[in-house]
Amino acid sequence: MIDQLFLNNFKAFRSASIRLAPVTLLTGLNSSGKSTVLQSLALLRQSYDSGILMSIDGDTDSYGGFLLDGDLVELGTGQDLLHEDFASNPPGADPRISIAFTTTDKQQYGWTAQYVPEQDVLPLNLAIGPSDWRDAALFSRRFQYLQADRITPATTYPRSHHQAIGRGFLGARGEHAVNFLRHHAQDVVPEGHPLRHPEAGGHTLLDQVVAWMQELCPGVNLEASEIPGIDSVRLSFGFGGTAGLDSTRRRRPTNVGFGLTYALPIVVACLTAGPGSLILLENPEAHLHPRGQSRMASLIAAAASAGAQLIVETHSDHVLDGTRLAVKQGRLAAGDTAVHFFRGNGAGVEIITPTVAEDGSLSEWPEGFFDESENTLDQLLG
Ligand SMILES: Nc1ncnc2c1ncn2[C@@H]1O[C@H](COP(=O)(O)OP(=O)(O)OP(=O)(O)O)[C@@H](O)[C@H]1O
Ligand SMILES: [Mg+2]
Repeated sequence: MIDQLFLNNFKAFRSASIRLAPVTLLTGLNSSGKSTVLQSLALLRQSYDSGILMSIDGDTDSYGGFLLDGDLVELGTGQDLLHEDFASNPPGADPRISIAFTTTDKQQYGWTAQYVPEQDVLPLNLAIGPSDWRDAALFSRRFQYLQADRITPATTYPRSHHQAIGRGFLGARGEHAVNFLRHHAQDVVPEGHPLRHPEAGGHTLLDQVVAWMQELCPGVNLEASEIPGIDSVRLSFGFGGTAGLDSTRRRRPTNVGFGLTYALPIVVACLTAGPGSLILLENPEAHLHPRGQSRMASLIAAAASAGAQLIVETHSDHVLDGTRLAVKQGRLAAGDTAVHFFRGNGAGVEIITPTVAEDGSLSEWPEGFFDESENTLDQLLG
């Protein structure tokens, strides 16, 4: 599990060292560098997937490079990537861009690229790591990266055997989640598993997904099915037992609102997490009502209990409070939680890291950190 991430001259960061825990929340102002943190890891992964991130121990020629534009992130060219107020070491030398991390088993990994302004592949001139570096969670099939911009309600979704079943990848927009669920619907979630929902009607993955989706919308059920003859799959929802609706009648995603479809990839990613999983999530709260947002935090905490590491960008006080509640209720250890508050300070990004105590309280509450409800209430009551 990654416990510290180091970025140098990488987009918003001249130099940053960020603690990562089993559950890490990246919070803060817009355009303050939260997604940049996730993009640094996604960049390593997409460079690896494309065969460009090659070796650790070879000579310089075989290290490979960073692939800036790919399936996960489109970062542009070296000019876009290099922090605009870059630091050189030694002073005056050509700038370098590096991404490094350490893991809880005391391994160090790092990649340093040369700056080439107009290129979308930056050659590496240093790569360090253990000989089995390819086994890191980041490069394993237990990696998921779900961006803020995800699949929206649609009549069909792609059916890529290679991505969803071969690689087990849900897609950066969650576009393979429906096909993944179709294929793995009957997988068994064992008794006593932290991700097993107490109210689930059965023990399959689909039962668990339905139970968690019912946290967002009571009574809902869903089905992911193939469409014979074409390379697409279909998602449908049923609303048995609520408001007198006929439980056998299926509804297409385009007719059931936005939140259910938008949350599905997050739910599937968390429910299929296990030891060695690394899950990067942007805004799991998007399009969910407040209680649903809080339940997403419970699901994230449950995925961490199942052994996964989750790094979550969020603007939601409900996700923060749901995480704090998970700590207070003993579903997540306080030490297994990291909360970072990002804000620009004119000269770069400042990261403030309140610590979470066992009762769920935070050691500090910087100005601008989820204080808007209180500020507005003060004015309303004042
Ligand atoms: N090469 C660069 N040098 C310096 N700063 C950069 C560079 N590239 C991007 N940035 C800065 O990074 C910030 C964008 O960061 P990021 O996309 O991580 O935002 P975010 O915190 O995720 O925002 P949101 O909450 O809106 O999703 C912007 O302030 C942008 O100016
Ligand atoms: Mg962002």
